[in-house]
Amino acid sequence: MKERYSGDADNLFCTAAKTLYPYIDAELTQLPLTAATTRELVMTDTNSIGLHEGSASQLAEKLNDLLANYQIFYMNVRGYHWNVRGSDFFELHAKFEEFYTDLLTKVDEVAERILTLGHKPVHAYSDYVSLSRIQEDKDVHDGTTCVKGVLKGYQTIIELQRELLSLASDADDEGTASQASDYIREQEKTIWMLNAYLSK
Ligand SMILES: [Fe+2]
Repeated sequence: MKERYSGDADNLFCTAAKTLYPYIDAELTQLPLTAATTRELVMTDTNSIGLHEGSASQLAEKLNDLLANYQIFYMNVRGYHWNVRGSDFFELHAKFEEFYTDLLTKVDEVAERILTLGHKPVHAYSDYVSLSRIQEDKDVHDGTTCVKGVLKGYQTIIELQRELLSLASDADDEGTASQASDYIREQEKTIWMLNAYLSK
């Protein structure tokens, strides 16, 4: 393919490629770079969906952190569903079921995004406990405390997803970015509703 480019076009291509894929420089032992070599490096260092392997690996690591947080959060909310007591029992018991069902859906979606990026989702609770920013919440019975636990969990999840969104945008990973932004928008609304409930 190199023959199709003039010398100036080659230089232009190399400059553009090095701007878009700065990691190329780190992988080189010899300069200058020809257009053909640059193109080969760009093409061979991408995964099956065309993302740079290094970026995909970083994203998968961040997604695994998110997965761990979703799993611990899911189990916390399951605990609130089982253990809540008091005059709001019926309302909260049902609401917590709605939350944990949604969290479980997202656990699967996040894990499958990791697989789509060509990596392995963590799947042991011991790993979830060590990776999760959200702490296990045990033996909570009071309705307000349970709702505050849900609120805090969503706030942490949103914070992580904003970090993920920034990483995905830098890597031109539209799939991960759009998944994160959909979750953020939906969960910000949930936070508004939880705050409304707590201020009654
Ligand atoms: Fe139940």
